[in-house]
Amino acid sequence: MENGGEADLFLTADAVNLILAKKRGLLSQVDSETLKNAIPAKFRDNEDYWFGLTKRARILVYNKESVDPKELSTYEDLANEKWKGKILVRSSTSPYNRSLIAFMIAKNGFEKTKEWVSGIVSNMARKPSGGDTDQIYAVAAGEGNVAIVNSYYFARILSSENKKNITEKLGAFFPSDGVMVNISGAAVTKNAKHRENAIALLEFFVSKQAQELYAKKNQEYPIVEGIETSDVLKSWGNYLQSTLPISELEKHLFEAVMIADEYLTIGDVENITKLANQYLEEKVENSHVLKNKIVINLFFEDSTRTLASFEIAAKSLGANVITLPIKSSSINKGEDLKDMIKTLNAMNPDYMIIRHKSSGIINTLAKHVNCSLINAGDGSSEHPTQALADYLVIISHKKQIKNLKIVICGDILHSRVARSNIRLLKMFGAKISLVAPPALMCKHFSEVDSLHYSLTEGIKDADVIMLLRLQKERMNNNSSEKEYFHLYGLDAQKLSHAKPDAIVMHPGPINRGIEISNDIADCVILQQVKFGLATRKAVLHYLINV
Ligand code: CP
Repeated sequence: MENGGEADLFLTADAVNLILAKKRGLLSQVDSETLKNAIPAKFRDNEDYWFGLTKRARILVYNKESVDPKELSTYEDLANEKWKGKILVRSSTSPYNRSLIAFMIAKNGFEKTKEWVSGIVSNMARKPSGGDTDQIYAVAAGEGNVAIVNSYYFARILSSENKKNITEKLGAFFPSDGVMVNISGAAVTKNAKHRENAIALLEFFVSKQAQELYAKKNQEYPIVEGIETSDVLKSWGNYLQSTLPISELEKHLFEAVMIADEYLTIGDVENITKLANQYLEEKVENSHVLKNKIVINLFFEDSTRTLASFEIAAKSLGANVITLPIKSSSINKGEDLKDMIKTLNAMNPDYMIIRHKSSGIINTLAKHVNCSLINAGDGSSEHPTQALADYLVIISHKKQIKNLKIVICGDILHSRVARSNIRLLKMFGAKISLVAPPALMCKHFSEVDSLHYSLTEGIKDADVIMLLRLQKERMNNNSSEKEYFHLYGLDAQKLSHAKPDAIVMHPGPINRGIEISNDIADCVILQQVKFGLATRKAVLHYLINV
């Protein structure tokens, strides 16, 4: 959808996927009495962007031979030492686990949930592998004692005649002080060409006919009250008491993803920044820390700054660097991207540095390599080393981030630089404002403090102004550059609304006369480039022992 796909309806499992699609501005609001009457308010978006179609619970499946159900109680209890070596769960990259973590943050707060996740990891019977069904089979095979899984996976196995030898060993348990109830759901896309049909299909999904199919064939709990369910669901009784409106998960998703994905912590950022400062001051003792290491640069999208600085950084630290010429690589003979990455991984590099137009691709590719994989920009999603460099520049001017008014202005919708900076700067307590034309705004960042459609209003009293390039390569229309500059381009006159000592930043490449005027283009942009090089040296150095 982000790359201009033409889907009318986004149909998916788990609230996380719907929440993230809404945050990225990919969905449109639907005003339907049929949907509102059929779906309880706590299972649909409070602004009508998405709708739950079925319910499911994240339950525990236990081995009856090794676990007495009296020993089971809450999700929290699974972090207790008594379960050491006994817990099975799929990877934390699964949206099912991200939602569960967000649910636990809503219940117990961030710090306690972080500890709980660590406890679960310490109690795992094995490294996470496979999906929920694999965890159930592993419990039956005695590889672990208790699995955390979605209810319909187990209900499907229980309803299969030929699985009796497995199911007789297993029991289902609904955590006692509130089970996590999630949804599958759907939304009409922002650019739907067949909007009326998409809404009609959505309304069909909440009809009695469709709801019974979901329950009886797919073992999912109906979202609509009074629908006949399957024998297995009936046999489990009425444990499905949702304690949290599903849209509340949104408030905790940012922190949940931080825990689940092991995002850079404040400590990581401070350590990388310290190293980067040492590189800037030429104080690093062994500057050839990457001697005999192999670094492969793979830039599927154009780059000047990021590519050159990673190449210079790696070479100056002593690495052997290969920058693969993508235009003459075998990707042009039809080789699949994953196959290409696996092929290069087989040559045993220490790092791959990848830029690609597809948002989220780096996380997918990371599963196929055993070297460090560095995100040099993926679609509209993330540009972490740019954000780290920008953080360093801001600290060098302002000493600290807490309570600074940082205004990010321009093509927010398509900007990976904005997303990475919002995430990072919020971790350090910045007050973040966004300024954009309505068509390029993204309204759903929970980290953002204010949104503005007027540049002069948005930059009032700003400490830092970050301008963004209009990313025409990610747009379908041709907006007027002259009009954009008139309304959103920064010049000396508009800049006078910010604090007198405000700094003006831009990740580059800049388009003079579109987002910035000549008279202020000599701001801290080249310092961002210089600090970008030091940051990339620091990142390569920091990852040596990971
Ligand atoms: N800022 C940035 O990523 O620039 P390049 O596209 O030139 O790498």
